[in-house]
Amino acid sequence: MVDYLERFVDRFDLRRLIRFRTRVTSAIPREGGWEIEAGGNHELFSAIVVATGFNSVPRYPDLPGQFDGFQLHTHDYRTPDPFAARDVVVVGLGCSAAELACEIASVAKSVTIAARSASWIVPRRLGPVPLDWFDTRSGSRIPFGIRRRAMVPLFRLAAGPLKRTGLPRPDHRLGDKPITVCDDLLRLLRGRQITVSAPIVRLGGDRVVDAASREIKCDALLFGTGYRTAVEFLPPEADPPSNERAPLYRGVVSQALPGLFYVGIVVAHGALIPMMEAQANWAADVLAGNLALPSPDEMRRSVELDGAVRRRQFDPRFGFIWDRLAYCRALESESRHSRRHPGSRAVRAAAATVG
Ligand SMILES: NC(=O)c1ccc[n+]([C@@H]2O[C@H](COP(=O)([O-])OP(=O)(O)OC[C@H]3O[C@@H](n4cnc5c(N)ncnc54)[C@H](OP(=O)(O)O)[C@@H]3O)[C@@H](O)[C@H]2O)c1
Repeated sequence: MVDYLERFVDRFDLRRLIRFRTRVTSAIPREGGWEIEAGGNHELFSAIVVATGFNSVPRYPDLPGQFDGFQLHTHDYRTPDPFAARDVVVVGLGCSAAELACEIASVAKSVTIAARSASWIVPRRLGPVPLDWFDTRSGSRIPFGIRRRAMVPLFRLAAGPLKRTGLPRPDHRLGDKPITVCDDLLRLLRGRQITVSAPIVRLGGDRVVDAASREIKCDALLFGTGYRTAVEFLPPEADPPSNERAPLYRGVVSQALPGLFYVGIVVAHGALIPMMEAQANWAADVLAGNLALPSPDEMRRSVELDGAVRRRQFDPRFGFIWDRLAYCRALESESRHSRRHPGSRAVRAAAATVG
């Protein structure tokens, strides 16, 4: 990935436009723009695009009691070495928890996964075929509800039976929340190299207690409990997006203050970088004057419709989850139209982004 990004920057000669090692400490709305403070300097810009992502501030569970062993969040994980020969409890069942539990299992004395809710877990491939090959651009024209039902048998086939893994069956529709993509977890669970416990409810020195009142002796905890979204350099009136609530027009434009855009506040099933690219191009078209934004009322209406679609199709805890390819198509089509008709509004500007 790093190599790809480096080559992208060189190919499009972007390096000269980037100020490396420059931490933005505040962004304040001013008459006609934004005042940015970075490295002690203040500069005025006509707009800002916040592209700091949503995976930088680790989220920890609020567990009573005290744990005396080694503790780490997946955010700070680099190698499995600190977990060697230890009894490890991994909290969470997202991609990070699953992938790292497998890596740690190769060196630890024992690994137990403690998840508070069930997840759909799938390997990357069905036989030799990457599963996301079934998620195609043309297929994304079929309504999400139908597509996800059609994917269930494929996912079941790829994952194999859950019996003997110790995992509970998912209690939600496929795709309601992020899918846990992991090649080795189910195999290691079936082979008992990793076991599953009920959710952890208490810490107790050299052990943790799960919701079934079972005491699990352990000397290391890995928190794979995800992240919270935080944009600390923005003032409160910017109403920055949170995991649960992100009222952004087309997932990009702030409704709180003018000239404030976001790129990369997206959760979806599959690769996120194409979504970010679509967002970046769309924002560039707005900033270049190709695409005219609708009125604040129309944007608010569209954001409300997006929220209604999201509540119907996904777990309401996810405030910026999208039907990935349909979302990309919507932004790309508005971008294309705006380049053919510079200065125009999108045709269905006030409608939901993904209908
Ligand atoms: N291989 C890959 O492509 C890969 C690898 C790693 C990460 N990622 C991506 O990176 C992003 C972050 O992934 P992530 O796995 O770090 O985080 P995540 O997807 O947010 O998963 C967090 C996990 O922790 C659980 N959790 C959260 N708060 C908890 C609490 N208070 N007590 C107990 N459990 C709690 C969640 O349970 P609930 O389900 O109940 O909320 C979920 O199982 C995702 O977009 C992911 O797709 C991708």
